[in-house]
Amino acid sequence: MVADSAAVTHDTDVLILGSGAAGLCAALEMDPRLKITLLCKAAPAESSTTYAQGGVSAVLDDKDSVALHVSDTISAGGGLCRPEVVRHVAERGGAMIQWLQDQGVNFTPYTPSGELHLTREGGHSRRRIAHVADHTGRTIQEALMAQVRERSNVALHSHCIAVDLIVDRSAGKRRCIGLYAQDTRTNAVNAYRARCVILATGGASKAYLYTSNPDTSSGDGLAMAWRAGCRVANMEFIQFHPTCLYDPRARSFLMTEALRGEGAKLRLPGSNAEFMHRFDERGELAPRDIVARAIDHEMKRLGLDYVHLDISHKEAADLRKAFPNIYERCLEYDIDLTRQPIPVVPAAHYTCGGISTDLSGCTDLPGLYAVGEVAHTGLHGANRIASNSLLECLVFAHAASEHINETLSRDAPVPEVMPWDESRVSDSDEEVVVSHNWDELRRFMWDYVGIVRTTKRLERAQHRCTLLRKEINEYYRDFRISRDLIELRNLAQVADLIIRCAMMRRESRGLHYTLDYPELDPAMDGCDTVLHPQAGRDLPLQEAAVR
Ligand code: FAD
Ligand code: SIN
Repeated sequence: MVADSAAVTHDTDVLILGSGAAGLCAALEMDPRLKITLLCKAAPAESSTTYAQGGVSAVLDDKDSVALHVSDTISAGGGLCRPEVVRHVAERGGAMIQWLQDQGVNFTPYTPSGELHLTREGGHSRRRIAHVADHTGRTIQEALMAQVRERSNVALHSHCIAVDLIVDRSAGKRRCIGLYAQDTRTNAVNAYRARCVILATGGASKAYLYTSNPDTSSGDGLAMAWRAGCRVANMEFIQFHPTCLYDPRARSFLMTEALRGEGAKLRLPGSNAEFMHRFDERGELAPRDIVARAIDHEMKRLGLDYVHLDISHKEAADLRKAFPNIYERCLEYDIDLTRQPIPVVPAAHYTCGGISTDLSGCTDLPGLYAVGEVAHTGLHGANRIASNSLLECLVFAHAASEHINETLSRDAPVPEVMPWDESRVSDSDEEVVVSHNWDELRRFMWDYVGIVRTTKRLERAQHRCTLLRKEINEYYRDFRISRDLIELRNLAQVADLIIRCAMMRRESRGLHYTLDYPELDPAMDGCDTVLHPQAGRDLPLQEAAVR
């Protein structure tokens, strides 16, 4: 796979990696005098943001308050949320909804005068979710992208996958000054030199066999930041969404929690019996970790392939109006949700942990920011409640842009960067190694590091992960890179971080549940699992390229 065009070096002030809610919002809030380059590895609309259905949480109702939003978030977060971060985000909910409206997002109204219709989702004690029917994410993505395309200071490079960050280590200091990215249409690996870099690359749910996420969620930003020397935290807290459509033909399609918010019941196929009340008094509206574990428990107990989600008792016309996207999609699989139950299974959905950042999105590495799902800000703790993550993307993207606008020097020289060196690699003669390892990794993560864990399963996963990473690193060193290989290398890195965090947490808390330590250990309240990269370990091969 030889590059069919010469590699180049691009110069920019701010390099933003990712065209989801976090990346687009950051671009729009940046000082228009700054030259911005926005990179995404696929088509610009391919992101988790596009697939978000439920909406954006915000305190917008007289019967609600910031204090309630804070306490709901903290209560779901199992003693690990940082209260100052939760308050910071909850206080900005209203302003973020207004900001989205200013960008052209027309939320579903409740009254003709424009008061917004709010839905309710698990863990929220009030109706608090602003939405655009059941396709909120797509509307946000389209609106923000349309605004970005109007900006003459923003250059969009789609189908460019970042490989590794470039770190300047001259004068005894460390600073991120850009990255290498492969143009997947020409295979050329180009250098991007920047005054600062924002990682907005989303989560890592593709580490699991079954996921609600698109292919973009392969943990690239997380792995790159780790290799560049940033701490990551709380990676054991992988959220499994309880209700994804079960149909071998449907590739990861979510059944929004808003269905349960509007009265959908979980039932056992065959007997039609409801079961959630046996697990939690809040029934279908218990937080997701509880609902996903209950479904997993019933499926394993009864040997089921799926359970049923049933909203057919509601008025058909109301359902078609409230959930047009889901209604149409189910029909494609011969399911009429107004008349019959929907088969559902849990699937990996959200990465609660990530790169450690402060309130401005700053990471440990000067010049490097992380915003959105890739970051660990302290908002979600051990379990995110629904619709808090789009809000987090917006709040932290605003904060990072503000920080850059105030602190970036446009005059300071940026060191030269070396072009990507391909002189010692050849074309792969065994691409099957990559596809085989992709499958193996995602399957053992699902089987051994899934909804219910044990120490033995984690040890098995770690053993396999170590072997796999060795093989992948050898392959990476010897052969020309491709998108599949870059993602596999990153997923294996992130899988290792997830397993290490899970092994460190010897208790069950939030999304981390292990049969060997089934109780919460109060001594661990407020204790994050923080991994520190060791000098010399996991460093990118091209790191020495910086002069
Ligand atoms: P993403 O939107 O995932 O964007 C990631 C971007 O990074 C993409 O452009 C991708 O191309 C780019 N990228 C990644 N790696 C590289 C690389 N190596 N090089 C170049 N570019 C790269 N949250 C809510 O709050 N409310 C909801 O209703 C909701 N519903 C959801 C429904 C589904 C089906 C899913 C999957 C998630 C949902 N979430 C919801 C979660 C939420 O959508 C995500 O957490 C959020 O959209 C993440 O936004 P982001 O900008 O951080 O990343
Ligand atoms: C959903 O609509 O159920 C997903 C909401 C979320 O993940 O925040």
